[in-house]
Amino acid sequence: MSTRFLLILGGIVTVSLFFSECKSSGGSVSPYPTIEHPTDNPTSEAKIELGRKLFFDTRLSKGDEIACVSCHRPDFAFTDRLPVAQGVEGRQTERNSPSLLNAGYLPTVMFDAHIETLEKQVIVPIQEHSEMDMNMKTLLAKLRAVPEYAKAAKEIFNRDFDAWVLTRSISAFQRSLVSLDSRFDQYYYQKDKSAMNDSEKRGWKVFSDKLYCTECHAPPMFTNYQPINNGIYSEYGEDKDKGRFRIHHDSTDIGKFKVPSLRNISLTYPYMHDGSMNDLEDVISHYSKGGNPHVNKDERIIPFTLTQEEQTDLLNFFEALTDTSYMKDFR
Ligand code: HEC
Ligand code: HEC
Repeated sequence: MSTRFLLILGGIVTVSLFFSECKSSGGSVSPYPTIEHPTDNPTSEAKIELGRKLFFDTRLSKGDEIACVSCHRPDFAFTDRLPVAQGVEGRQTERNSPSLLNAGYLPTVMFDAHIETLEKQVIVPIQEHSEMDMNMKTLLAKLRAVPEYAKAAKEIFNRDFDAWVLTRSISAFQRSLVSLDSRFDQYYYQKDKSAMNDSEKRGWKVFSDKLYCTECHAPPMFTNYQPINNGIYSEYGEDKDKGRFRIHHDSTDIGKFKVPSLRNISLTYPYMHDGSMNDLEDVISHYSKGGNPHVNKDERIIPFTLTQEEQTDLLNFFEALTDTSYMKDFR
C-alpha cells in the first residue's frame, strides 16, 4: 500500500509546483487565493518529503497502529469513508475525517474553526486519546532515534528532531496537497467549454443561481470557511456534538461547524461533521426541507423544490468538482 501512496503523493507535489509556476509566469491574475506559508515555516521539497514520511508513519501512534494517513487517505481525497473516524484500538472519535486537499488555504483549522495554523493542529490527533493516543515526550524520543529522521532534521532545520521539526514538516507536506484542476475549473476558469456536459452546466446554475448554495459554498474553494449552523439537528442534547460551542461556551455557537469545501465531494462520503448523511441525495433532501428548526440555524437555509431533472443536473454537477489528477500515478 505504501508504495502506491508514495506514487500519488509524488503526483500531488508536482501538481502544486506546477500551479505556483503558472501563477508566477502567466502574468494573468489567478482566480485562486495564494497559499500563505508562515514566515517561520518556508516550504522546500526536502521538508515536504520529510512531512510526507511522517504523515505515513504508524510510529506516531500508540502501538504503532495507525498513521495520519489511516484517517486521511489519498484515494478518498484524504478522508476515510467512515461516518466517524476510528483511532487506535478501535476507539471511535466523535467526528467525520475532513479532506486535507487544499488544507493550505484554510484560514482556521478544525470543524470548530478555532485553530489558527496547521502547525498548531498537528499535535492534537497525536495526543488525543481516541485518535493516536501518544505522549509527545515519548514520541519525540522514539522519532529522534530513527537515523533517517535525525539526519533530515539536521539537514533541513539544523537542529535535533523535536516538536518544531515534526509540526513544521507535516504542515509543509499538507500545504503541498493542492487539488484545483477539476472539470469545473477547466470549464469556468480555464474557459474550456467542453470540460463539462450540458447537464453539469445546468446543475451549476441550479447550485448557484437557483439555490444560492454559493452563499456558503462559494467558488473557487466552494466554502466561505465560516462556522455556521446549517440545520442538521433541532436539539443538541447530551448525545449531540454542539460544534463550536465547545470552544467558548457561547450558546449562539451551538450547532455551528466550519463550512466544508465541496471540492471532490463525490469521493468524501459520508457527509457532515458526524457522517450522518450517506450520500448526496440525503444532503439535497436535508436542504430541500430547509433543514431542521434551531435558533442558530442560518437564515439562508430555506426549503425549495427541484424537478427530477434539476436534481439529476445538480448531482451531475457535483461530479464535475472531482479532481483526481493528484492520483494519476496511483491508478
Ligand atoms: C483517528 C483518525 C485521525 C487521525 C489518525 C488523524 N486525523 Fe486529522 N482529523 C480527523 C478528524 C475526525 C478531524 C476533524 C476533527 C475536528 O474538527 O474536531 C480531523 C481534522 C484534521 C485537520 C483539520 C482539517 C480542516 O478542514 O479543518 C487536519 C489539518 C488534520 N486532521 C491533519 C491530521 C494530521 C497531520 C494527522 C497526523 C498527525 C491527523 N490528522 C491524524 C481524524 C484523524
Ligand atoms: C448558510 C450556509 C450554507 C448554505 C447556504 C449551504 N450550506 Fe452546505 N454546508 C454548510 C455547513 C455549515 C456544512 C457543514 C455542517 C456539518 O458538518 O455539520 C455544510 C455541509 C454541506 C455538505 C457536506 C460536506 C461534507 O464534506 O460533509 C454538502 C454536500 C453541502 N453542504 C451541500 C450544500 C448544497 C447543495 C447547498 C445548497 C442547496 C448548500 N450546501 C447550502 C453551510 C451551508
